[in-house]
Amino acid sequence: MNEVLLKNADAYYRLAEKKAADYFKSLSEQLRNKTYVTTVTKDIQTWKQNHIRHPFLSIFSLEKGKPDSRGYYNYIQWLDYTGKLDNYLDRSISYIFMRDLGKELNSPKTHNRIQDVVDKLKTQLLDSAEGKSEMFSMGGLYRMAQKDGVETTMIWLVDKLKTVSSNIPVGMDAEEAKRKLIKIIAGVIMHQIEELDDETSPEERTRKLDAAIRLGYSYGLTYPFIDDLLDSKVLSAEEKKQYTDLIRTTLVTGSVPELAAWAGRNKELIQFIHSELRDAFSTIKNHLQQETNEKFFEQTYVFFQSQEVDRIKDLSNANYTNEELYIPIILKSASSRLIVRTVLSAPEDEEFDNRAFFYGIYNQLADDFADMFEDLKAGTVTPYTYYMKYHDKRRDLINPFELYWTVISNLVHNVYHSDAKTCEVILDRAINGLKRFKKRVGKERYNEVMELFASGNSQFDRLIQQMVRKSDDVDFFDKLLRDHIVSNLKDKQKEREEFLDTIETVRKQINDVLHIPKINAISSINDAANYSLEGDGKRLRPIMTWMMSVNEYGLDQSAIVPLLKSLEYMHTASLIFDDLPSQDNAPIRRGRTTLHQLYNTATAELTGLYLTQKAVEEQASLEQFDAKTVLQLVRYSAGKTAEMCQGQLMDLDSKGKQLTVEQLNTMCFYKTGIAFEAALVMPAILAGRQESEMKALKKFAYHTGIAFQIKDDLLDVEGDRTLLGKPIGKDLENNNSTFVSILGIDGAKKAMWEHYCIAMEVLQELQPNTNFLKHLLDYIVNRDH
Ligand code: IPE
Ligand code: IPE
Ligand code: MG
Ligand code: MG
Ligand code: MG
Repeated sequence: MNEVLLKNADAYYRLAEKKAADYFKSLSEQLRNKTYVTTVTKDIQTWKQNHIRHPFLSIFSLEKGKPDSRGYYNYIQWLDYTGKLDNYLDRSISYIFMRDLGKELNSPKTHNRIQDVVDKLKTQLLDSAEGKSEMFSMGGLYRMAQKDGVETTMIWLVDKLKTVSSNIPVGMDAEEAKRKLIKIIAGVIMHQIEELDDETSPEERTRKLDAAIRLGYSYGLTYPFIDDLLDSKVLSAEEKKQYTDLIRTTLVTGSVPELAAWAGRNKELIQFIHSELRDAFSTIKNHLQQETNEKFFEQTYVFFQSQEVDRIKDLSNANYTNEELYIPIILKSASSRLIVRTVLSAPEDEEFDNRAFFYGIYNQLADDFADMFEDLKAGTVTPYTYYMKYHDKRRDLINPFELYWTVISNLVHNVYHSDAKTCEVILDRAINGLKRFKKRVGKERYNEVMELFASGNSQFDRLIQQMVRKSDDVDFFDKLLRDHIVSNLKDKQKEREEFLDTIETVRKQINDVLHIPKINAISSINDAANYSLEGDGKRLRPIMTWMMSVNEYGLDQSAIVPLLKSLEYMHTASLIFDDLPSQDNAPIRRGRTTLHQLYNTATAELTGLYLTQKAVEEQASLEQFDAKTVLQLVRYSAGKTAEMCQGQLMDLDSKGKQLTVEQLNTMCFYKTGIAFEAALVMPAILAGRQESEMKALKKFAYHTGIAFQIKDDLLDVEGDRTLLGKPIGKDLENNNSTFVSILGIDGAKKAMWEHYCIAMEVLQELQPNTNFLKHLLDYIVNRDH
C-alpha cells in the first residue's frame, strides 16, 4: 500500500469530519434554541395558503376522482384534466434541480431551464399517456439517444445493465439495483446537460453526453456493488473484510489491485465485480483532468470511509454520541452528490459545493425516516432506529425528527437565503414524505411514531399533523416515476419469464410432430431428413405461427399442425443448402455435424429438396380449412420459397462486394426476412384476416427479419460457439458481405436497433396489438443463440 497517499487520505477525512462537525454543531445549537419552531411555523403559515382548500370549495372536491397514483399514465392524465399538471411538474423539476443539480432556484437562468424541462416533459408524458410513444422502453430510449448521436453509447449501456442485473446475487434485489443505477446515471447525464449551453456544438454535445453516460454508469456501479453489497448479507464477514480492503487500497493508491486469492464462497461474483469495477475505475480515471484528479480521490475516500464508519455501527451499542451518529451521515450524503461534478470534471463551483454539502443530510434524514421500520428490523443504526431504541435511557440523544425540521429551517433561511420557491418546494417535499409514510404504515402506527418523535412543542406538532391531514398538491413526479420504473421492471421481468416458458412449451409440442415416419423402402433419405430436423433448432418460425394461430386467431391447435411442420421443413432445407460446400461450407449445424459431412453432398442436396416437397405435401393436408384458402396459402408459400432462393443467391454473389445499406437490407429480407413474413402471413391467410392487417404484419416481419439476420451476423463475430451450435467466424472466412463486414460491429448494432424500433412502432399500430410479437422482437435482438 502506498503510505504517502494513505496519510493524505486520512488527513482528508479528518478535514472533512471537522467541516461536518462544525455544521452539526450549528444545527444542534439551532435545535437547542428551538429557533426552527418559529421559522418553520411561519413558513408553514404562508405555505398552507396554497395547499389547504377552503372548506367551502371542498364540496367540489377533486380528490374523489383522483386515481391511484400507481396507475402512472392515468395519474398524469388526471393531473392534466384537473389543471394540476403544470404545478406538479414545476415543483418536481424544481426539486430535482435543487437536490440533484445543486442549483439555486431563484436564479433567472435556473428558472428558465426548469420551465423548459417542464414543458418538454409535459408534452412527452401526455404523448406517452396516449400511447404515442413509450419513454421507458428500449425503443423510446434509442430514439432519444439518436437525437443526440449517442446511440452506440446507449446500446453499450443497455448491454451493461443487462449484464449487471444478471449478476446481482440472490439476497440482493436486482430491480432495485438496476433502478438505483439508472437513477445515478440519469443524475450524471442531467448534470452534464445543465453544463452545456447554446454555444455547445452538436459534436461537442455528443461527446460530452457520451462521456456522461459512461461516467454515470461507472460511478453508479459503486452503489449496488459497493454500498448495497456490503449492506447485504451476501458476503461473509471475512469476505467483507477482504472486499473493503480491496476498495480502500484502490482509493488510496489510485489503482485497482489484482484479485489474487479469495477466501470465501463468492469468488465468482467478486471476480465479475472486480473486473467491472476495474473498467469503471479506469473510465473515470482517464476522464479526470489534472485539477479534478486529487479532488476525486479525496471525495471518494471520504464517501467510502464515512459509509464504512456508518455501516459498522452496532444497534446494541448504547454509547454512541450524537456526533458519532450524525457526522458520518452528513459526510456520506454530501459526498455522494459532490462526486458527480468531479467525475464529470465540471468547472469548480464553490457555491454548488456548499449547497450540496448542507443539503445531503436533509435527504438522508428523509430517507431514513421512511425506512425506519425496515432498518429497525435489519438492525441497522440510523438516527431514527437509534433514537427509538435508546431515547428513554439517553436523554442526551438528539431527536432526529426535530433535527430534520432544523435542517429544513437552516436550508431555507441560511443556505437558500429565504427564497420563497425553495421554501415552497422543501415544505411540499417534507409534508409529502409524512403523507406517504402515513399511507404506507397506517394511521395507528404513524401516530405512534409521531408521538415518539414529537418535538415537545405541541403547537408545532399539531400544525404539522394538520398539514399532513389537510394539505394537498404536495406530490412529486420522481416518486411516481420511481414506483413506475420498479413496477415496470418487475412486470417486464415476469412477462419475459412467461414468454420464455410459453415458447419453451410450444417448442416441445413442435418437436413432437416434426419426425417424418418411414413410409416405404426409401428410408435413408428419411433418416437424413430426420437427422437434420432432430438438431437443436430454436423453431422460431413455427412458434410464431402457433402463437398467432392459436392465441390471436383462435384456430384449432391440431388443425394447424401441418402448417407448423411445413415451416420447419422449409427452414431446415434452407439450412442444409446454406451449409453446403458450394455455399457457406459449414461443418456444424444445430450442435451436430452437417448433413453433407455426415453423408455426402448429393444426399444433402436431395434431402433439402425432399424437405421442401414434404413441406408442400403438409400444406396440402390442411384439411380442416377451406380448399380455396389452402390454395391461396400454397401459392403464397411457393412464391416465397422461390424468392428465398433468389435471396440466397444474392448473398453468395455479394462475397467481397461493398454493398450499400439498401442492398444489404434487400438481401437480408430475401434470404431471411421472408421466412418470418411467411410464419406470420400464413396463419393470417388461414384465419381470413384483412389485407390491411397482412400489410402491417409484412412490414413488421420485414424489419424483424432483417434485425434477426443482423443479430445472426453479430453472433458470428461475438457469439459463443457452444451456445450457438454452429461455428463462429464463418462470414469472415467466406468473405461474406454482412451488416458487420460493411458497417462494423457498432454500425451493425445501430442498424439492428433501428429495425427494432421501426418494428416496435409498427406493432403499436397493429390490431390486435400483440404482446407476443413485442417479446419475440426483444428475444430476437437479445438472444445469445
Ligand atoms: C439460422 O436460423 C439461419 C438464418 C436465417 C440466420 P435460426 O437461427 O433460426 O436457426 P435454428 O433453426 O435455430 O437452427
Ligand atoms: C442464412 O444466413 C440464411 C438462410 C435462410 C439459410 P447465414 O448463412 O448467415 O445463416 P447461418 O449463420 O449459417 O445460420
Ligand atoms: Mg449463408
Ligand atoms: Mg451460413
Ligand atoms: Mg450467419
